[in-house]
Amino acid sequence: MSTKPTLEDIVSLCKRRGFVFQSSELYGGLNGVYDFGHLGVLMKNNLRSAWLKSLQAPDKTILLFEGALVGPQAVWQASGHIDNFHDPMVDCLNCKKRFRADDIDMEKGCPYCGKKEWTEVRQFNMMFKTHLGATVDHSTAAYLRPETAQSIFINFKNIMSSHRVKIPFGVAQIGKAFRNEITPKQFLFRMREFEQMEMEWFCTADTSNEYFKYWCEKRLSFYTAIGINPQKIRLRSHEKTELSHYSSQTSDVEYEYPFGWKELEGIADRGNFDLSQHSKYSGKDLSVHDEEKQTSYIPNVVETSVGADRLFLTCLFDAYTIDTLGQEERLVLKLHPSIAPIKAAFLPLVKKLNDPMHHIYTDILKCGYTIEFDDSGSIGKRYRRHDEIGTPFCFTYDFDSETDHRITVRNRDTLQQERISIDAIKNYIGDKLQKPAAL
Ligand code: GAP
Repeated sequence: MSTKPTLEDIVSLCKRRGFVFQSSELYGGLNGVYDFGHLGVLMKNNLRSAWLKSLQAPDKTILLFEGALVGPQAVWQASGHIDNFHDPMVDCLNCKKRFRADDIDMEKGCPYCGKKEWTEVRQFNMMFKTHLGATVDHSTAAYLRPETAQSIFINFKNIMSSHRVKIPFGVAQIGKAFRNEITPKQFLFRMREFEQMEMEWFCTADTSNEYFKYWCEKRLSFYTAIGINPQKIRLRSHEKTELSHYSSQTSDVEYEYPFGWKELEGIADRGNFDLSQHSKYSGKDLSVHDEEKQTSYIPNVVETSVGADRLFLTCLFDAYTIDTLGQEERLVLKLHPSIAPIKAAFLPLVKKLNDPMHHIYTDILKCGYTIEFDDSGSIGKRYRRHDEIGTPFCFTYDFDSETDHRITVRNRDTLQQERISIDAIKNYIGDKLQKPAAL
């Protein structure tokens, strides 16, 4: 049996097991900002590397990039973010609570006090502004990036000439983005500081539609490859009225969260908007030369963009399962082995057997797997902890192991236990952790 987790279940698991903590909790907490603990970092690293692997294809060049988090005003003027990156904001005149106007039904009245006394809806720019250096004027104004993409666009010529690549090619970046969300909510779903995994695919205008379809398919298959339930994933194409200022067509990969179907990833045909704007505002030519046609053109861009934290949250929702074992219930995170933070646990049945088990653990550790040696508490308690953090396999060394040189391996999902030779552990883990075909 399994029940659907609530957001509270996920938040509580994350804190209890050290995946994610509210940032600055000691001082009352910072709304929309989170810190990642040991298991959270391991799992996020797995997501980052799965995402990078998923972009690879023998016939596609994808270069890596890591841009600065802060950019001068000129970049955001050109990108359109100063003029267009707004959310509609409204205040309740009675209880003084503030809302994103498109998040609530203003006709129904304030979700807190019920009164229908609103201020006018104002446009609120979501970028964090600062000044570089001691002088505060127009020339020192800078912004934390609200998307990672722009640093790729402003480096387009540097990237192209230094790597001698030809259109089409892609540039992938994983990095922080910042948005001063009016109402951060749903834990890692809508944050003020978050991480994006974005890939900008530069191509000609006449191939962009074909590549848009290609990347939509490719991105969908990524989610099933990392074990997300295909019934809970869908592709939804944007209405014209929903499109961002830079996009000519967008499709969202949506997931069915407990709070409804919501965007997990956006795939957008950005046309040549970004490079044209930067060319115009900087006065630098960002066109490329087409040798065959003997013309110059500004390339189009197809972008895939997913939040690493939102994906992290999605994997937790998808994996969180309550199984009933006879009279007992157990909580188990059925994460795909490639995403699980710990791949296998090595458990001596009793402390007396620590030494031989530690010896085996040390030997397996040399293979580079993220594994844990765990001798604290009863074996039942240790199994429960590893179920809750999604460890796919638990190896237990018992008194029989001393004589038969075999060990028990317990499968997290099926709970089946089998006895295998200690010499077979490396191959066993290697086989079970083989990366999914689509990665
Ligand atoms: N460069 C395009 C872009 O930034 P977006 O739809 O605004 O497009 C892309 O964001 C992805 O970034 C979203 O699909 C989501 O996964 C993630 N994201 C956006 N805002 C977020 C926030 N406030 N908190 C967490 N993740 C967010």
